[in-house]
Amino acid sequence: MSGMTTGAYRELHERSSTDPASFWGEAAEGIDWITKPTTVLDDSKPPFYRWFADGTLNTCYNALDRHVANGRADQAAIHYESPVTGTSRSYTYAELLEHVAKCAGALRNLGVTKGDRVVIYMPMIPEAVIAMLACARLGAIHSVVFGGFAPAELAARIDDAAPKLIIAGSCGIEPNRVVPYKPFLDQAIERSEHKPEKCIMFQREQGPATLIEGRDLDWNDLMSDSTIEPAECVEVAATDPLYILYTSGTTGKPKGIVRDNGGHAVAMHWSLPNLYGVGPGGVWWAASDVGWVVGHSYIVYSPLLVGATSIFFEGKPVGTPDAGAFWRVIEKHKVEAMFTAPTAFRAIKKEDPNAEHLKKYDVSSLKRLFLAGERLDPDTYHWAHGTLGIPVIDNWWQTETGWPIATNPVGVEELEVKPGSPSVPTPGYHVHVLDDLGNQLPANSEGAIAIKLPMPPGTLPTLWQDDDRYVSSYLSAYEGYYLTGDGGFIDEDGYVYVMGRTDDVLNVAGHRLSTGSIEAALSGHPKVAECAVIGVHDDLKGQIPRALVVLKSGVDVSGEGQTEQLRAELVERVRNEVGAVAALKVVDVVVALPKTRSGKILRKTMRQIADGQEAMVPSTIEDASVLDKLRPVLEKH
Ligand code: COA
Ligand code: AMP
Repeated sequence: MSGMTTGAYRELHERSSTDPASFWGEAAEGIDWITKPTTVLDDSKPPFYRWFADGTLNTCYNALDRHVANGRADQAAIHYESPVTGTSRSYTYAELLEHVAKCAGALRNLGVTKGDRVVIYMPMIPEAVIAMLACARLGAIHSVVFGGFAPAELAARIDDAAPKLIIAGSCGIEPNRVVPYKPFLDQAIERSEHKPEKCIMFQREQGPATLIEGRDLDWNDLMSDSTIEPAECVEVAATDPLYILYTSGTTGKPKGIVRDNGGHAVAMHWSLPNLYGVGPGGVWWAASDVGWVVGHSYIVYSPLLVGATSIFFEGKPVGTPDAGAFWRVIEKHKVEAMFTAPTAFRAIKKEDPNAEHLKKYDVSSLKRLFLAGERLDPDTYHWAHGTLGIPVIDNWWQTETGWPIATNPVGVEELEVKPGSPSVPTPGYHVHVLDDLGNQLPANSEGAIAIKLPMPPGTLPTLWQDDDRYVSSYLSAYEGYYLTGDGGFIDEDGYVYVMGRTDDVLNVAGHRLSTGSIEAALSGHPKVAECAVIGVHDDLKGQIPRALVVLKSGVDVSGEGQTEQLRAELVERVRNEVGAVAALKVVDVVVALPKTRSGKILRKTMRQIADGQEAMVPSTIEDASVLDKLRPVLEKH
């Protein structure tokens, strides 16, 4: 196959551009609407675009009920594999529907109705999916918070979403320890201004929580209460929100990405077969977490909307118990295609470089491996490809878009793979590389990657209750374009290369984190005057944070062990405020931070020095000697 993209992909991409109404109108046929939309794209209020605006539906109906009615009742909807607890369990579509309808009935009895928000703070247990779909069934808006986030992050989300209820698990289970969730939940509610009316706690035997009388309810009591009637699906507008998923920006205030019901259902139903090559009845595994967008889109909604079987894995690629964990599950369930982050493969490679574990399993069912969430470096690509001997497909997207912006659309046409590139713009996405002035750059020139509006169905219509921030964060840099926040280039064959964020957002082991949140946790320490966090290269996690702190005047930590003590306190603060996933280990105490004359900290310049790259020092630097003094510190790790 040549690098030039001809044939089915090209034709489809062109059609999505010249006639989006016919393209997405046809894709919408895959959804059971209550009222079929007559308008595909409402573009009457740019820069706000709405898909299927006059349609109505229920997403849970499309994910469960219709499959049960159409012959999939006994097919597995999810296989739960939990090496951390030594448990495996499968739910057929009929069983999952029964649990979801009951849970929705319990939520309805507690007063949850259409449009109410429900925060879900749970580990990778099937009850998380049940809770998400129960909300969808009622037209309530779920907001799942990743279990690895600590009270400050959780409290920020509670305040912004203002949930009526919170549904939580009592603990998460990490390879080395049980992580109690309840203390984090209680602390977060104490800190937040908004207070939920009730909390429903799923008690895990590995770490049950003490319930607060009058506020906390036991999940099992509700689910076994025979007086609670299962709930039917509630009709919602295509444009009503299905969920809010908070993601990290540069500041400490997370962005509430809104996902609507109609556009999302269409995009999710279209993308699994066309982009990932998995159709109804297929066995698919996205090894991520329901707390991230990959979990929402490709553990829960897309496979269920399609009628496929989704693997739900509570474990790690290594250490649960070994680097053969993935192969064991693939063999057991005859997984056809798998999706994970490059970090996971780097972890397997590090522990088992010759893939000895692989020899013990039959993974011949696996046709393709998809990797995303961070840049797929060519070394990891070659190792995964060489080891498995199947196509390894990089795909680039973000929480905001909900599904790939660029990929190799294997269900449409399997294109040549170019290591280092997530291939070509997905049908529906019109990707351009722009210079500072908004001019389109020629092939192979690096600039800001932007997407011409309107973006396709399933992408964010706005931020939760904040149209202004939506416009200022994403749409104001270049008129008529959505700014991805990533830099890169497009080659002469139309292949996109994503080189990294142009802002200060961190990507640690595929987890998106905000410099602002980590800095806020550090600044809260009584000895710290100011600080900066930068993301530096790490061979395993892609990036890890490094912190530079300036102490308040008069604070002296020169005594024996005092600096070490301070570092330990700061690391602990970040674990307890932001979460252990931030993985902050390196903290340096410095005299001053380099800034521009207007006071902006030169994080990018520091990052370039720490990574051994050529550093761009802006002419507006306030005092170049500050940076010179910092160089040896930055270069030393
Ligand atoms: N709840 C509570 N704590 C959590 C957590 C959760 N859901 N997830 C992670 N943590 C904790 C871990 O226990 C660890 O704590 P520690 O510092 O006490 O050991 C810390 O957060 C960092 O976790 P993690 O990022 O998982 O790093 P690790 O060193 O334990 O494992 C990898 C490294 C590569 C195996 C792991 O990062 C991984 O599986 N990555 C895949 C990433 C992924 O799926 N990303 C989703 C986007 S597609
Ligand atoms: P998230 O919103 O957590 O999915 O993170 C999105 C960010 O991760 C993107 O803006 C990119 O910076 C990065 N990212 C995700 N997938 C890729 C990829 N395939 N290649 C390069 N970067 C990626």
